[in-house]
Amino acid sequence: MPPEPSIRVLVVGATSAIAAETARAYAAGGARLFLTGRNPDRLAAVAADLRVRGAAAVETVVLDATDHRRCEAVVEAAWSAFGGLDVALIAHGVLPDQARCQASVTEAVAALDVNFTSVVALLTPLVNRFEAARHGCIAVITSVAGDRGRQSNYVYGAAKGGLDRFLQGLRNRLYHAGVAVVTLKPGFVDTPMTAGLKRGPLFASARRAGRAVHRAIERRRDVAYVPWFWRPIMWLIRALPEFVFKRLRL
Ligand SMILES: NC(=O)c1ccc[n+]([C@@H]2O[C@H](COP(=O)([O-])OP(=O)(O)OC[C@H]3O[C@@H](n4cnc5c(N)ncnc54)[C@H](OP(=O)(O)O)[C@@H]3O)[C@@H](O)[C@H]2O)c1
Repeated sequence: MPPEPSIRVLVVGATSAIAAETARAYAAGGARLFLTGRNPDRLAAVAADLRVRGAAAVETVVLDATDHRRCEAVVEAAWSAFGGLDVALIAHGVLPDQARCQASVTEAVAALDVNFTSVVALLTPLVNRFEAARHGCIAVITSVAGDRGRQSNYVYGAAKGGLDRFLQGLRNRLYHAGVAVVTLKPGFVDTPMTAGLKRGPLFASARRAGRAVHRAIERRRDVAYVPWFWRPIMWLIRALPEFVFKRLRL
């Protein structure tokens, strides 16, 4: 019997600390990986690391995800590279400065673009291919910040919350084609994105988060909090009535 062909995985935003750890878990299983990232040097370094860790093949394409027109071409390249895909993980994002977003339309719109619109630009062509293939799993990293708007980061929260709703609709649509949609909601993770935040007991390492993402995808979870303990925390936060919540300084 010929050996089983290895799993084909697209990772958008592969230089993200969380995504790179997830990709390592796939590489250890001998996956074929198609990686995109904005920074060519860091992308090449991630690719080299994954080859050493056992990936059967690694292809890379440089992509700034806010270049919406290029998103479809990159999806096509990823789909063609290994004759289809089994898993797509979209991981890129930025934590914008809330005060600057409040002061500048340009900053606010840019934050919404990278965290929401650019993901839609990627998902739209990607989903159509997965739906036609009637197979596979699409996973997207959103955030616990999308579960409830807070004064300290509601622009980021709105983008991630909008994405959460978009993915809900996709999950409903793709269920009928046998394609899974996994919404990943990390809490605080120790990565370059949170370098400016004070570390606390709720912080998880990028390795722990990346492994949890890999597990959630392989188990085809609908919604996974990363780590798991954010699920009860966010349940409590969502349960607070709005007339109480609006008075808090969060
Ligand atoms: N860390 C946390 O506490 C936390 C919590 C909740 C959710 N998340 C989400 O987790 C995901 C991964 O973040 P991370 O924590 O691993 O942070 P990270 O290491 O800083 O990764 C963020 C990645 O996004 C990429 N990126 C930013 N803008 C881009 C653009 N326009 N086009 C393409 N790539 C772009 C960055 O590329 P460059 O290196 O080129 O800038 C970087 O690789 C993000 O979606 C984030 O919102 C993180």
